[in-house]
Amino acid sequence: MKITVIGAGNVGASAAQKLAYDELARDIVLVDVVEGVPQGKGLDMYEAMPVIGSDSRIIGTNNYDATADSDIVIMTAGLARKPGMSRDDLLFKNAEIVKSCVDQAVAKSPNAFFIIVSNPLDVMTYVALKATGLPRHKVLGMAGVLDSARYRTFISMELNVSVEDVNAFVLGGHGDTMVPLPRYTTVAGVPLAELMSHEKIDEIVKRTANGGAEIVNFLKTGSAYYAPSASAVEMAECIVKDKRRILPCAVALEGEYGLKDVVCGVPIVIGKNGLEKVFEIKLTADEQAALNKSADDVKSNIAKLAAV
Ligand code: LAC
Repeated sequence: MKITVIGAGNVGASAAQKLAYDELARDIVLVDVVEGVPQGKGLDMYEAMPVIGSDSRIIGTNNYDATADSDIVIMTAGLARKPGMSRDDLLFKNAEIVKSCVDQAVAKSPNAFFIIVSNPLDVMTYVALKATGLPRHKVLGMAGVLDSARYRTFISMELNVSVEDVNAFVLGGHGDTMVPLPRYTTVAGVPLAELMSHEKIDEIVKRTANGGAEIVNFLKTGSAYYAPSASAVEMAECIVKDKRRILPCAVALEGEYGLKDVVCGVPIVIGKNGLEKVFEIKLTADEQAALNKSADDVKSNIAKLAAV
């Protein structure tokens, strides 16, 4: 197993570190345009392996030769948000970066799965899908796992119970129109609405949708990375171990949930073939309308890119 992480910034380096600590691949390649940074971070990580007890070998590099024959490529490169910026402000610049990086990566690893983390996430996943020419089961965007993780964290904080016992879904695009689904949120199997008031649930749903901005406002110089990188690695783990977990991921829809020609976050079965199956659940009219609105936002950004 060989995994390439593109981008040696905070998200990429944290992802490579977790992959190595969890020994999810024998070879991990960290690639970035900045000279010295992937080499330095990669070697530093490699030197932690005797202490961690992992035999992952981490190589840092500025070119894609060392990435050849990767099984999975995690794409994190791109500009990050600054306070006051929306994810969509990154649209044009990051589209160029994503296209250039995935072009180079797929040329060396034509059989790889791509996990896209660059923002605006859903549109960048669409860009990667078109640029690589890969089938949709091989190009997955990471957003729903992160958004659900935030939502689960806030619920666990409120109830003072283990995060592990909180099961939740957040659908839709990774943006202000994401769709947390309280109706499908349970704590040890008990529906959330039996455990907290509607006002509290609404508050948590709002905090979740604003979760990325909350971190940007603290950090000022960039956006979140611990939870985003852990979320991308969880998706990679499902592929590596053929877990068939049901996780919300951004995928190209072909009529599921009444949507097509768009990438949007929906629950999928994720295993050794990447997207094994879109997991369709019944939505109420309101939930479907919220999902449609979210998908429309993604479509309008795809159209903006197509227009230039
Ligand atoms: C966030 C950014 C990475 O949600 O989109 O933190």
